[in-house]
Amino acid sequence: MTNIILLGPPGAGKGTQARKLVDERNMVQLSTGDMLREAMASRTEMGQKVAGVMSRGELVTDEIVIGLIEEKMASASGNGFIFDGFPRTLPQADALGALLVKTGQALDAVIEMRVDDEALVKRITGRFTCGNCGEVYHDETKPTKVAGTCDVCGSHDMKRRADDNEDSLKTRLMEYYKKTSPLIGYYYHAGALSTVDGLAEIDEVAGQIDTILDAVSK
Ligand code: AP5
Ligand code: MG
Repeated sequence: MTNIILLGPPGAGKGTQARKLVDERNMVQLSTGDMLREAMASRTEMGQKVAGVMSRGELVTDEIVIGLIEEKMASASGNGFIFDGFPRTLPQADALGALLVKTGQALDAVIEMRVDDEALVKRITGRFTCGNCGEVYHDETKPTKVAGTCDVCGSHDMKRRADDNEDSLKTRLMEYYKKTSPLIGYYYHAGALSTVDGLAEIDEVAGQIDTILDAVSK
């Protein structure tokens, strides 16, 4: 069991790398962004409450995302958790620490994915995902082999996110620098932080993450 956090700004590649780890190491991806989008799609009361906040690129309340994580941690099983997009604030980091203690688990690594803002704009504005299996693509760096058809499941249901536009991205980046980037210092002082070059090619980033995981895996 290895539990890790993927920490990085919008478009850093958290979701892309998490999906590889699910396939290759049988870990469980816990993406609060995906959970919130599911709640919106199924039009739950909470989903309707967060829709505007998310499309503007602001953060949803700590209470909502901590509740989602607690629920999923209790029901999912696999070879450890990949926290993708959570925690994003200091109260969320404290809550995760408490949840891990309560369930007798450790946090094995926090992997900061370092990128620059210019690359992020290109990544976010070119991203699309398969609406059926969730595979993540990019118009230029990771197109589907056959236009409009998912390489993994063959679906033609390709989606672009409502918050993947330049205006929302500006807010998302500001939220990241103001509220999430302090977590880099927080986990550095806890002795858990490692950094990878998020600007490298997808497989190279995966290799850097593998090296970190091999060192901390039990
Ligand atoms: P969330 O869904 O977590 O979005 P995000 O953090 O903005 O991150 P992204 O999903 O946009 O990027 P990613 O790092 O996963 O990159 P990806 O792999 O897709 O959150 C959305 C919203 O939900 C938030 O704004 C907030 O409102 C709310 N929310 C979520 N969690 C919350 C929390 N804890 N607290 C409060 N609110 C919360 O890659 C991006 C693109 O780049 C893809 O096209 C991909 O193919 C490409 N790519 C990836 N890696 C590479 C590479 N190495 N080289 C070239 N291209 C690459
Ligand atoms: Mg993501």
